[in-house]
Amino acid sequence: MRFFLSTIALMSVVSSLIAAPTARAPDAGEELPDGLPYPGPGELKVIEQNAHGTLPNGPAPPVISNRGILNLKLIAFNELFEVAFFSELIANITENVEGYRFTDDDDRTETLSWLKVILAQEELHAIRANNALSSFGVKPIEPCHYKFPVQDFDSAIALAMTFTDVVLGTLQDVVETFAIGKDVDLAREIASVIGQEGEQQGWFRVMQGKVPSELPFLTTSDINFAFTAIQSFVVPGTCPNILEIGLRTYETLNIITPPVAQSKNLTFSFSDTRNETSHPLWMTYINQQNLPIVEPLRVVSREGDLVKAEALFPYDDNEMNGLTIATVTFSEGPFGDANAVAKWTLAGPGLIVVN
Ligand SMILES: *[C@@H]1O[C@H](CO)[C@@H](O)[C@H](O)[C@H]1NC(C)=O
Ligand SMILES: *[C@@H]1O[C@H](CO)[C@@H](O)[C@H](O)[C@H]1NC(C)=O
Ligand SMILES: *[C@@H]1O[C@H](CO)[C@@H](O)[C@H](O)[C@H]1NC(C)=O
Repeated sequence: MRFFLSTIALMSVVSSLIAAPTARAPDAGEELPDGLPYPGPGELKVIEQNAHGTLPNGPAPPVISNRGILNLKLIAFNELFEVAFFSELIANITENVEGYRFTDDDDRTETLSWLKVILAQEELHAIRANNALSSFGVKPIEPCHYKFPVQDFDSAIALAMTFTDVVLGTLQDVVETFAIGKDVDLAREIASVIGQEGEQQGWFRVMQGKVPSELPFLTTSDINFAFTAIQSFVVPGTCPNILEIGLRTYETLNIITPPVAQSKNLTFSFSDTRNETSHPLWMTYINQQNLPIVEPLRVVSREGDLVKAEALFPYDDNEMNGLTIATVTFSEGPFGDANAVAKWTLAGPGLIVVN
């Protein structure tokens, strides 16, 4: 049952662009808690108390690389979405919304109080990224209106686990880019956040009945994949300055067959304006710190631009546990890393979490 719920959530992540709009007020996304994105000094003090800690108080580094700026924009964009998610989840539990009712009072109290700490910590991550942008003379990222493809607590936690997996992979890309750009101080700070997000993830996984430590080496990603994945939670056209972020947005990749812990042909759908006979496509999987795996993609049907295709998910030969990022690529590689896959991606990321 738990696996079923998490599968629903995973598939919703990638298909929510076509999901029915929610009944929430159109301006609800702007109402982030605690004065975000620009809390006053009093509000910040309260956030820090709730977060059990403070913003770093050292000076910002004097210079930053161009790609370092891009990293900060993506981080701010992601953290603002996370703030909206956790704040809405806390509200749903607090208001005993159907699907969010607990039978055990102590469990409810503990869950709420731990989620409130996580919310405040995510608020500080968002504020920190936007403050850093401001200190480099770059406009902060503004929040959007959001919609989440979940209607109950278990699916909400499965979704939190999935997007935290993407964050944990994406921050690896961020740290490497900071290293290449010699953004030394920022690299250290992000390393501290990776550990922090990993602590959250252990709890989300335990709530799903999964082992808290997911993999020996967590799956990596590319910031462009995160940018596309986050947009599936955004009401289109509601982000005031998303165009200033300057990352790529890929076609949506839907995973139609629920993935399981065995080698199996999976069915996917995506939109492609070209003819696959003259422009062949492949399914490429990113899992752990391994070289990307490329599988032939067989087109099953086509209606207009909507393509249905099948590819092997080669679990057994590769011990593909934890997060796998699936992408439709217009090259068969071989790819040296996730960044190379991102350059050749048409549709994705499809997010698969096994075990
Ligand atoms: C909160 O509950 C509403 C109503 O069921 C639902 O539409 C929304 O997705 C939920 N949000 C979260 C974050 O669980
Ligand atoms: C996947 O489909 C291909 C082509 O139809 C077939 O040859 C192969 O045996 C299938 N693999 C599995 C694991 O079902
Ligand atoms: C795709 O290209 C092939 C070979 O060039 C051609 O035979 C086929 O009719 C084309 N299909 C479509 C849907 O245009």
